[in-house]
Amino acid sequence: MTARLDNIEACVFDAYGTLFDFNSAAARCRDALGDKADALSAMWRDKQIQYTWLRSLMGQYTPFWTVTGEALDFTMETLGIDDPPLREQLMDCYLHIDAFDEVKDVLSTLKRAGLKTAILSNGTPEMLEGGIRRAGIGDLLDGVYSVEEVGIFKTHPSVYQLAVDHLGIPADRISFQSSNGWDAVGGAAFGFKVVWVNRYGQRPERLPSQPDIVLTSLADYPAVLGL
Ligand code: LAC
Repeated sequence: MTARLDNIEACVFDAYGTLFDFNSAAARCRDALGDKADALSAMWRDKQIQYTWLRSLMGQYTPFWTVTGEALDFTMETLGIDDPPLREQLMDCYLHIDAFDEVKDVLSTLKRAGLKTAILSNGTPEMLEGGIRRAGIGDLLDGVYSVEEVGIFKTHPSVYQLAVDHLGIPADRISFQSSNGWDAVGGAAFGFKVVWVNRYGQRPERLPSQPDIVLTSLADYPAVLGL
């Protein structure tokens, strides 16, 4: 039997890795990247997230689009890829990133059940709009909240507070879904009910707050709410 969350009024989703497949950008450039595609994708993502944490600690916020480009530059140099047009192509693919297959159906199910739905992401509004439009899920979202509003990245509590303030719903009535173990921990530390969508088979983070429920795909999420 699926573990359940009760009394949930809103479902808030992380974007990259959770709704949108960050590996799809490199996958779409696989012809140019050859056998470096997987290494590039993994290092790009790791550096991107490290830079968000470092910039937040240093008090030097810059939009996620810039961070994503800086992380890509580090990665391409490390892998010995000197190809400016390919860099532009990869960034363009990131701007129009693919959603995971189940996303549209899951959001439709939640909306039919009368739940509020939103994205809460490090991404800039333009980046998030690019993915939302490509996936055709704009009508299925009540809100799209970007860290741009607070000028600091996850896992700062002010980021998670954005969802509470915009939705007008207390944290413990919000179910927050993230595929990123560290983001799931951040959301749990804040006070959300948390579903860790562990798509990548990661080990649990050794940090104080833990997700309430662990899934491997969003397809199983409606059942968590009894849908
Ligand atoms: C986001 C990153 C963390 O969308 O995936 O916020």
